[in-house]
Amino acid sequence: DPATLIDGHGRRISYLRLSVTDRCDLRCRYCMAEDMTFLPKSAVLSIEEMAELAERFVARGIRRVRLTGGEPLVRRGIDTLAMRLGALIGHGLDELTLTTNAMRLAEQAPMLAAAGVRRINVSLDTLDGDAFRHITRVGDLSVALRGIDAARAAGLAVKINMVALAGLNEDQLLPMLDWCAARGCDLTLIETMPLGEVADDRSDHYIPLHHFIAPLRGERAIWPIDKRTGGPARYFAVEGSPVTLGLITPLSDNFCATCNRIRLTVEGRIYMCLGQDDHIDLRAALRESGPEAVDGLIDIALAGKPRAHDFHIERKSRPAVARHMSATGG
Ligand code: GTP
Ligand code: 5AD
Ligand code: SF4
Repeated sequence: DPATLIDGHGRRISYLRLSVTDRCDLRCRYCMAEDMTFLPKSAVLSIEEMAELAERFVARGIRRVRLTGGEPLVRRGIDTLAMRLGALIGHGLDELTLTTNAMRLAEQAPMLAAAGVRRINVSLDTLDGDAFRHITRVGDLSVALRGIDAARAAGLAVKINMVALAGLNEDQLLPMLDWCAARGCDLTLIETMPLGEVADDRSDHYIPLHHFIAPLRGERAIWPIDKRTGGPARYFAVEGSPVTLGLITPLSDNFCATCNRIRLTVEGRIYMCLGQDDHIDLRAALRESGPEAVDGLIDIALAGKPRAHDFHIERKSRPAVARHMSATGG
């Protein structure tokens, strides 16, 4: 099949994470510095350019696209992009998804559903309003919760992403699980990763997920299940709960051997790995010669995709990469 992308380590690459903006209306401590400088407009791809690139990737073998940011719903024209990519579903594309902080979901959930999005991932680290304000620096929990309810009402499946933060949300796992059960959401836990300089020392808040879930294990049995979404999570069932629990353990249990993804930033750069700064710029070729001109660059990117990330959490150590998580949306 000519429309198949295989990297230099023999992995099939079928999943594209498309960061549609580096901006965000929150400032989560583990993600951003307090005073972020964002990209100038001239550096940023237009909606038309992003659509052309995404269409090219689908023609080359990408089967799933996830819209990310920054916060994808703050990008003007996101509705146009979602509609345009949604039209590819069943024509090469299997699934269009989105990862959001939910602050603007109440207005935009019906648009997403109309575009063909069936499930979204929502970042929500706590159900405590004060802790939410502390972690996000500026966020109002009730706005996020209203957004999630609107998404469920629009028929979207919602998976909550919760970054495990020692000292900040360890007490929230059981309440979050019950809250998810009541709303028909799933829950995925994530180990904090060292990307970009932030004010906090992430090693102060890092906690391996097997420690984070110890209180849950003390109360209820959990067992692995065979579910796959094409993402990095390993999934578990929880005794007495309808919630599927996902664990994303980049630090304590590396999953790079089955990596299926690449990332495209709002500047038009392919990042071959979340944990490396190597990238290949498609923007110049796109602007000078059109979408087909990027094919050779896609091939070079795939051939050079690293075997694995090189994340370590060490006290006062430099981040593994200089780029902030908000540049590639995780
Ligand atoms: P689905 O499985 O399709 O629901 O999506 P996902 O879990 O891949 O996407 P999501 O945007 O919800 O990402 C969840 C977390 O996984 C984020 O913190 C990402 O940074 C992290 N993540 C996603 N892909 C990778 C990866 O390739 N490597 C590493 N180390 N982390 C990743
Ligand atoms: N480590 C782990 N996850 C992170 N996210 C943002 N920054 C980090 C980090 N340093 C998460 C967000 C969101 C997802 C896309 O990435 O909470 O759920
Ligand atoms: Fe925004 Fe997501 Fe980063 Fe929080 S983690 S600041 S919501 S991009």
